[in-house]
Amino acid sequence: MALPRTRGGAIALAGLILLLASQAAAQNAFTAVSEATNPSLLLFSSALQLSGVSTFFNTTGRNITLFAPSDQALLAALPLLNLNQTQLVTNAVLMAPVLMYHAFVPATSDASFPAGVSYYNALNTDGSISGNQLRVSRTATGGLAISSIGSDASVTRVDLPNSGSTAVHVIDAVLFPFYPSVYAAIARTSALSTLSTLLSSASSLMAKLKETTAVYTVFAPFNAAFTAALAPSGLNMTVAQLAAQPALLQAILSYHVVPGFYNSSSFSTNPVTVTTLTGQQLTLVKDGASLVVKTADGKTSNLLGARDLSCGFTDQGTFRATVHVVDRVLVPPPIASVSEALALRTDVNTLLAAVKAEGSYATAINSTTFTGTLLAPTDSAFAALLAANGSISAAALLANTTALKKILDVHVVTGTPLTVAGLTNGQNISTSGGATITVVKTGNATQLKLRNSVATIVGVEVAIGSSATMIIIDGVLVPSGVSISTVGGDGGAAAATAPSFVLMLWSVMAAALLLAFQRMQ
Ligand SMILES: *[C@@H]1O[C@H](CO)[C@@H](O)[C@H](O)[C@H]1NC(C)=O
Ligand SMILES: *[C@@H]1O[C@H](CO)[C@@H](O)[C@H](O)[C@H]1NC(C)=O
Ligand SMILES: *[C@@H]1O[C@H](CO)[C@@H](O)[C@H](O)[C@H]1NC(C)=O
Ligand SMILES: *[C@@H]1O[C@H](CO)[C@@H](O)[C@H](O)[C@H]1NC(C)=O
Ligand SMILES: *[C@@H]1O[C@H](CO)[C@@H](O)[C@H](O)[C@H]1NC(C)=O
Ligand SMILES: *[C@@H]1O[C@H](CO)[C@@H](O)[C@H](O)[C@H]1NC(C)=O
Repeated sequence: MALPRTRGGAIALAGLILLLASQAAAQNAFTAVSEATNPSLLLFSSALQLSGVSTFFNTTGRNITLFAPSDQALLAALPLLNLNQTQLVTNAVLMAPVLMYHAFVPATSDASFPAGVSYYNALNTDGSISGNQLRVSRTATGGLAISSIGSDASVTRVDLPNSGSTAVHVIDAVLFPFYPSVYAAIARTSALSTLSTLLSSASSLMAKLKETTAVYTVFAPFNAAFTAALAPSGLNMTVAQLAAQPALLQAILSYHVVPGFYNSSSFSTNPVTVTTLTGQQLTLVKDGASLVVKTADGKTSNLLGARDLSCGFTDQGTFRATVHVVDRVLVPPPIASVSEALALRTDVNTLLAAVKAEGSYATAINSTTFTGTLLAPTDSAFAALLAANGSISAAALLANTTALKKILDVHVVTGTPLTVAGLTNGQNISTSGGATITVVKTGNATQLKLRNSVATIVGVEVAIGSSATMIIIDGVLVPSGVSISTVGGDGGAAAATAPSFVLMLWSVMAAALLLAFQRMQ
């Protein structure tokens, strides 16, 4: 460049240098994201600011790559993150570890990603390099595909402008540094492929394990454990034969699922007793260096490695659920009768007492040949019923055998045993006493309605032999002719509707736009 010969020329040059410098200073991963159009990355850029990590990205000279999820991708991820739109705006600090998982060192332009597969360590919230990897692969058509721990994404736009020394690429799904559900942890772990296959034949259980709000601990036998369990010395059957026996399959798989969160820190030399979805108990104990799950009849299964498959995300930003890979399938002692299934549990004592006090169902449900289903209200369901009736005592209810008979009549269903997954919205179920219960399905919840009473199904059915099931419910169904008030009216409280998608979209966008406007001032 020729030197300027006039004062005006020198000022113009200085101005140009300043302009270039200020443009250069404004170029970084954050400006690339916040200035992006087609697609706009408004939600991602808002989330970066709200969660306090935008300063890291709004710094020039960083040698990093950032994958930026589109607005649609962020909206689609909210339920998987167990965050509602309000929390995204007001409690977005929970998002910081998720957002930082979208970045790694060094800056890698589209052209610099090698053919085949490469792995990169994503960043921690403080910008340091984490142990959580991202897998980037070049697709057959020359695109880029990303696998995170909990999701897969495709790059939809490469090398955003205004990124300075960094590389910023747009992706079509949020990357998760944890599994969104325990089912996702199982399905995405190749050593658990047999369990994953079997779960697809246990649909009630699979639906529960897919819930992104459920708090579960799963002891997941790896493939070799199933091979051993199915061998002639064990169950002597193939995977397909086990899958074709729904009651046995349900019993075995449910025996490995415990409501509640027990990570490896929960194992100590003091044994902890936990109750599985079958109602049967397991003991967790630390034995030397081994973390061991023990059955009541002394069988053991060991956790393989200390690493939990962490499933995320509570309001406090801790993991919500976990999957432990274990080395043995635990086959539960068979539950011979419905009354044994009741006796195993600690939360259905009132019902068991009612069956005994009333008498006419006691023999039937204590029989190994009973064919049908017991709908089993929990102790708290009975407590709520008593409270709603002038706090009459349990003893008074148990003494009223006429009322008890009528109540039990609507909780026993004979014939083909019911499964939770088999229930359809609007289905009518005829009870032993001839009354008709209606099934109401809303989202993940399945409710049973009888006249003004409503009960929500808890967990999955307990398989009893191959001819009976027990389904735990959180309310007592009240038939006609029983002078007792129902609890909770016609379920109005449970019917509080979710905001519509449009409303939700509007609300998130409004918050994001507000921020965008603030930025412009
Ligand atoms: C980004 O950095 C620039 C320059 O330091 C600053 O003016 C701007 O306010 C920052 N933006 C945000 C959202 O932090
Ligand atoms: C969002 O979740 C929080 C915390 O669980 C809750 O207090 C709030 O009512 C929820 N908001 C909406 C709109 O669902
Ligand atoms: C970015 O990091 C890579 C790998 O650490 C290094 O090879 C490269 O020289 C760095 N680039 C710049 C501009 O610092
Ligand atoms: C396993 O089952 C097969 C038939 O399916 C039977 O012939 C064989 O004896 C069984 N083995 C054992 C050890 O029970
Ligand atoms: C287990 O979970 C608790 C509560 O979230 C946490 O404080 C602890 O660090 C976890 N332990 C391990 C080994 O991850
Ligand atoms: C069920 O039968 C067993 C023996 O077959 C008996 O010990 C038990 O008391 C019976 N339970 C009930 C609730 O009748």
